[in-house]
Amino acid sequence: MARAMVLIWVWCAVLATTCVNGLGVNWGTQASSPLDPKYVVQMLKDNKIKKVKLFDSDHWTVNHFAGTGIEVALGIPNLNLKEFSDDYDTVQDYVKENVSDHLRDHGGVNIKYIAVGNEPFLKAYKGKFEKTVFPALKNVQKALNEAGLGHKIKATIPQNADVYNSGTAGPSAGNFRADIRDVMIKISRFLDQNNSPFMVNIYPFLSLYENDNFPVEFAFFEGGGQGVQDGNIHYTNMFDANLDTLKYSLKKAGASNVKIVVGEIGWPTNGHKQANAKMAEKFYNGLLQKLASSKGTPLNPGYIEVYLFSLTDENTKSVAPGYFERHWGIFRYDGQPKYPVDFSGQGNEKMPVGAKHVKYMPHQWCVLKDDIKNLKSMKGNMDYACSLGDCTSLSYGSTCNKLSERKNISYAFNMYFQMNEQSVEACDFNGAAKITKQNFSDGECLFPVEIISGARKELAGILSGVVSSMMMMMMLMVLF
Ligand SMILES: *[C@@H]1O[C@H](CO)[C@@H](O)[C@H](O)[C@H]1NC(C)=O
Ligand SMILES: *[C@@H]1O[C@H](CO)[C@@H](O)[C@H](O)[C@H]1NC(C)=O
Ligand SMILES: *[C@@H]1O[C@H](CO)[C@@H](O)[C@H](O)[C@H]1NC(C)=O
Repeated sequence: MARAMVLIWVWCAVLATTCVNGLGVNWGTQASSPLDPKYVVQMLKDNKIKKVKLFDSDHWTVNHFAGTGIEVALGIPNLNLKEFSDDYDTVQDYVKENVSDHLRDHGGVNIKYIAVGNEPFLKAYKGKFEKTVFPALKNVQKALNEAGLGHKIKATIPQNADVYNSGTAGPSAGNFRADIRDVMIKISRFLDQNNSPFMVNIYPFLSLYENDNFPVEFAFFEGGGQGVQDGNIHYTNMFDANLDTLKYSLKKAGASNVKIVVGEIGWPTNGHKQANAKMAEKFYNGLLQKLASSKGTPLNPGYIEVYLFSLTDENTKSVAPGYFERHWGIFRYDGQPKYPVDFSGQGNEKMPVGAKHVKYMPHQWCVLKDDIKNLKSMKGNMDYACSLGDCTSLSYGSTCNKLSERKNISYAFNMYFQMNEQSVEACDFNGAAKITKQNFSDGECLFPVEIISGARKELAGILSGVVSSMMMMMMLMVLF
């Protein structure tokens, strides 16, 4: 590992180019069959991704990162915040069982951050976590300190970028949202005192999704368009403008020295007209080249630590924010790449390395029987299949939107069948469906075959109750 890292460094230096330093990626597991963590570890290594951010602290998953050198950010779900705020014993137990114990096993897990809650101040939560998240943060850091880990492992709170804004005046008018300003000031100062980072999730895609008039080129990194003039500084992309708005907000909070880490950033490939592989490729290409240059933003020059969102698609996530929510993966559900991404930031058009040795269920599909002619009568079946399966790829602008009505129905049947691990009962639909060995995929539209998952299924069940990490409403934001 160490030798490999030296080699990469030398290679980048010799070619007088730059590389993306310590790139991170989020890995969520709200899927019918999450990838086995052992394949994920290999994927990260193969793509030279050095850091992973998880949404929980599941023992079995975390253990797979022991001895790999990969830096791990653990998550504490919002649902646990009340307990973590009220009951210090629980927090101590958590630090012992879910953190300290991992530092010993098999060479140890390289735990770096504990993400306390996830976007707890989203307006959609109506203040539900406002009273508990800061006490929970303090308790976690205190327990880490008492366990002698506080210098190495930092607690922080991943925030949605809607916790600050600047109206139309540009980044220098940035400040924390009025309704939570007091608590945000306290949190920012606490992070500052503890040498912990401020973690923020940034989504240019959601600005486009929310607002048809949002200037498209401002979401990317190639300049063009009007941009935003703020005093002497001209902003040509939302990433810079957004981070600098945060920088101003932190300054006004008396915490100008807090390090900013981007906890999530990415582009989805399905579920909306602006969500496709071409735009995702363009976004990542621009972002990664920017990161490799270590230019930073006008007010945050230099290296910026970033976690991409996300590693794989998650087909059981809540679609309350939009159908795109299940398609954030750079990789598909089975760990295979969707489009070229050069993680080194050199801008080369190359496919990422996909997951190896993934095992699939039998190559078979569930489809509408040929002798069913009255397609209107299938509406009930289709609604049922889509409500429990995943039909988001059929939506407008998505890869399966151009299917015939027959194939639409087959697509829905197949998703339901696959997500139920190809159980024979899941391919009945009152006698309208049959199992076939014929691959019904059509052009860009993939009829998937489920993978065999080592990950326990109840994981997906538990997590799907948690409201999705990014509610689109907010983002819009800062500038418009
Ligand atoms: C700690 O680990 C246990 C065992 O995997 C798990 O059940 C629990 O949910 C974890 N706690 C948190 C807060 O993630
Ligand atoms: C297929 O289903 C999608 C989503 O329900 C719908 O938008 C589309 O119009 C349907 N296509 C046909 C040919 O019925
Ligand atoms: C089905 O066909 C699609 C597109 O042609 C292909 O990508 C996929 O690998 C095939 N699936 C199987 C299980 O052969």
